[in-house]
Amino acid sequence: MSDGVTSYVRTNRARWNEISDDYQRFNAPRIRGQAFTGDVAWGLWGLPESELDIFGEVAGLDILEMGCGGSQWSTALARRGANAVGLDLSERQLTHSRELQQETGLTFPLVQASAEEVPFADRSFHIVFADHGAFSFADPTRAIPEAARILRPGGLLAFSHISPLYEITVAQGGDHASRGLVRDYFNLRLFTDADGLVSANLPYGEWIRLFRSCGLLVEDLLETRPKADPSLTGRQRADNEWARRWPSECIWRLRRSAF
Ligand SMILES: C[S@@+](CC[C@H](N)C(=O)[O-])C[C@H]1O[C@@H](n2cnc3c(N)ncnc32)[C@H](O)[C@@H]1O
Repeated sequence: MSDGVTSYVRTNRARWNEISDDYQRFNAPRIRGQAFTGDVAWGLWGLPESELDIFGEVAGLDILEMGCGGSQWSTALARRGANAVGLDLSERQLTHSRELQQETGLTFPLVQASAEEVPFADRSFHIVFADHGAFSFADPTRAIPEAARILRPGGLLAFSHISPLYEITVAQGGDHASRGLVRDYFNLRLFTDADGLVSANLPYGEWIRLFRSCGLLVEDLLETRPKADPSLTGRQRADNEWARRWPSECIWRLRRSAF
């Protein structure tokens, strides 16, 4: 990958390489099944694409996943007939992607690069997307213009993200939401989270101005709300109750203008 990477991207690459095996062991089982069924679901609360209908029909489309991790998503889309490409910063995450390709027999290109500088020609893809992927860790002012550049006119950029509202309830260095506004809203951009990862977010208005400056039209901002789940306990129960009252995550749905 290019050596033009910024220092926080270098930090994130090292950190994702370190935590990748644990991430795949503990978090990925939640989405592993979709690689075998093709039925994808968005975000921490697993809201089915079949209900949200963010992509529409994907067969025959050129689709790039930005921050593909173990490629459970891209594998599912390849199973549904898309020409998938998985891109990730971390070589260890891409090793897990290759293992899944061997297991499923579904192969597609895997590329190691940062979302801030991607090795694709202008107008290469019909869809660029991420589910809590690269847009949660790359500087938005670099990654969003890159995504817009490689989208075809009329193409779709869709990505899920922690909501800006949620971010400002998490104490600096903390790892869960509170019921107070404990961080500055206007300073959201790049910040180090409890895992030592540098995360990214922006105030809502800045997101919208950035999209517009890249020729991206906002089709929707889905503020996803999980179903109440009384079977959950402890931390998961508290997170579910929080997200029933306020948006913990959101999905941007953006259309590249035809010009
Ligand atoms: C939370 S994981 C999500 C991956 C996948 N969507 C999943 O649900 O398992 C975020 C991924 O983004 C990747 N990533 C972080 N910063 C990136 C960047 N600047 N460019 C490309 N990928 C990045 C990480 O290596 C990691 O695999």
